[in-house]
Amino acid sequence: MEHLPRTLLITGADRGLGLALVKEFLHHDIHVFAGVHRSSAEITRLCEVDPSRLTIIDLDVSEPDAIRSAAASVGRYTDSLDVLVNNAGVHMEDQLTPLEKLDFDDGHLEESMAVNAFGPLRVVQAFLPLLVESACRRVVNITSEAGSIDACWRDREFAYSMSKSAANMATRLLSNYLTGRGFSVLAVHPGWIRSDMGGPAADLSPAEAAAKVSRIVRGPLPENGAIYIDYRGNTLPW
Ligand SMILES: NC(=O)c1ccc[n+]([C@@H]2O[C@H](COP(=O)([O-])OP(=O)(O)OC[C@H]3O[C@@H](n4cnc5c(N)ncnc54)[C@H](OP(=O)(O)O)[C@@H]3O)[C@@H](O)[C@H]2O)c1
Repeated sequence: MEHLPRTLLITGADRGLGLALVKEFLHHDIHVFAGVHRSSAEITRLCEVDPSRLTIIDLDVSEPDAIRSAAASVGRYTDSLDVLVNNAGVHMEDQLTPLEKLDFDDGHLEESMAVNAFGPLRVVQAFLPLLVESACRRVVNITSEAGSIDACWRDREFAYSMSKSAANMATRLLSNYLTGRGFSVLAVHPGWIRSDMGGPAADLSPAEAAAKVSRIVRGPLPENGAIYIDYRGNTLPW
């Protein structure tokens, strides 16, 4: 990014990686619009400490009306948005459930697609008028290595993996559509994180993952032109 980001919206900001990223961005003098679905004591406390640089925005990324309201709310604070980080995500299924036990009526496939795949796309659409007014014009979709078809080693976790593959495709389509207008669009795997989603055995604390992901969000694009990368900047296979 040629210009330093000054305004940023992040979804799923109340816990896990999202909350840790909010703290990182605040250290870098960025005004953060923290999209929250249910909210948490910690993001509320952070906002009380620094209300001039952190604004909490109600944002359920699976609800079109909520997304439109969120864009209108942010538009009352600023005429332009430098960076959008689509971080909100769900992993709903038991990781051990095999094909034979997959329950198509439990809603997991639909909700995973709604939040993980269509959510980022809807949010980009709604915030595009603010993003085009910025000199930075960056969109970062937090996807996962689980969305890689080429490197897939799983034989289950259908809802999560399929929704993250779809989010990767959305990233590619958005990149094709928006790069000519000066945008950079990335899909980033943030590592295996000790959040509610990643569990206690994971490799990275939310703060460790956020420090790395924040550098990618704020930094130059990979020199090799890759747009699907991990938290260390390594290219991932689609
Ligand atoms: N943890 C890992 O090891 C790992 C690995 C690869 C990729 N990722 C990706 O990293 C991102 C963050 O994951 P995490 O580990 O921080 O997960 P997490 O601890 O489970 O947090 C998920 C966040 O997403 C929010 N969210 C869920 N549904 C939402 C909705 N409909 N609208 C808005 N927000 C919603 C949650 O809000 P509520 O609190 O309101 O539910 C929460 O803030 C996700 O996209 C995930 O897929 C994580």
